[in-house]
Amino acid sequence: MPKSAKIVGLGKYLPSKVLTNFDLEKMVDTSDEWITTRTGIKERRIASSEESASVLAYKASLEALKRASLKPKDLDCIIVATITPDNNFPSTACYLQKYLKAPNVSCLDISAACAGFIYGLVLAKSLVVSGIYNTVLVAGSEVLSVITDWQDRSTCVLFGDGAGAAVVVGCNKGGIVSSYLGGDGNLGELLILPAGGSRIPTSMETVKKRLHYIKMEGREVFKHAVRIMVDSALKALKKVNLNSQDISWFIPHQANMRIIKAVAERLNLDMSKVYVNIHRYGNMSSASTAVALCEAYEEGKIKSKDIVVLDAFGGGLVWGSCVIEWV
Ligand code: ACO
Repeated sequence: MPKSAKIVGLGKYLPSKVLTNFDLEKMVDTSDEWITTRTGIKERRIASSEESASVLAYKASLEALKRASLKPKDLDCIIVATITPDNNFPSTACYLQKYLKAPNVSCLDISAACAGFIYGLVLAKSLVVSGIYNTVLVAGSEVLSVITDWQDRSTCVLFGDGAGAAVVVGCNKGGIVSSYLGGDGNLGELLILPAGGSRIPTSMETVKKRLHYIKMEGREVFKHAVRIMVDSALKALKKVNLNSQDISWFIPHQANMRIIKAVAERLNLDMSKVYVNIHRYGNMSSASTAVALCEAYEEGKIKSKDIVVLDAFGGGLVWGSCVIEWV
């Protein structure tokens, strides 16, 4: 059985429609200046009505498979991390299996908000090193625009749509060498989609009260974010006797530029080692780290033997970090 697991193909897909801060100025009482200085975001992508989470994941997955020189028939398992699934059920992974025409796969969705892609990679590695599967596809895909309240200026400026995907196979050296995952349900109310589940089922009232949109205590979430992301990254590094100075590329969740800078500062990391694309896409929840990793790879930044650290936190609260020795 393989000792570790590595990423052999990365892909991404961003919808073509761009919504800029200037567009938002016409929709709510905000300004490009406020959004840029408070978040670092300049624009975000918005999916069309035909582009559900599985459609975005499909396009990202095709690119990841192509770069891995693999076909859908080679897959054993499909994992989709999403908080905006096509339906409550069937799973978005099942839709993706249908589009890919992957004949022999198990399919499951993960709900771990912005940490979903990292949770997916860790699960994929576990399945591979335990010998259960050889080849696992992990996608992070979100259409956050459908759960965004376009009348709420405190949240609607933050989110965007997109997908990233990775193909994971076994290896004996390097790859995903360490990880750390965590969660704290006591802080769940800070960041929540209140209605539409078994707790508060959909009704005329829930629609009227706009309870099918993201609600967030931004200031409170911010406070926890920096502490959690620093702690999580350091714990994952420590497991393999590394520290923040060993990091070649730090790929954080792209929720807020101020959070990213504060985390980098506390890790004593120069911003030249931190991959940032928040200005182009905003916060795409589970897709953020997936797309950022893919873009860093496409731009030729990641070299063999580099230590790449993925680090994310999100609604739940949940968090996770992965240390990858790139092979
Ligand atoms: N335009 C103009 N003014 C605004 C806007 C806006 N879009 N939004 C809020 N304001 C106002 C507020 O009303 C407030 O005004 P007041 O002082 O008169 O009351 C003022 O700006 C400051 O508001 P704050 O909420 O304190 O602003 P803050 O500096 O905290 O920035 C933000 C808000 C960007 C949301 C920040 O708190 C943040 O990034 N939080 C973390 C978000 C996050 O990381 N989420 C986790 C992942 S998401 C997921 O899991 C799906």
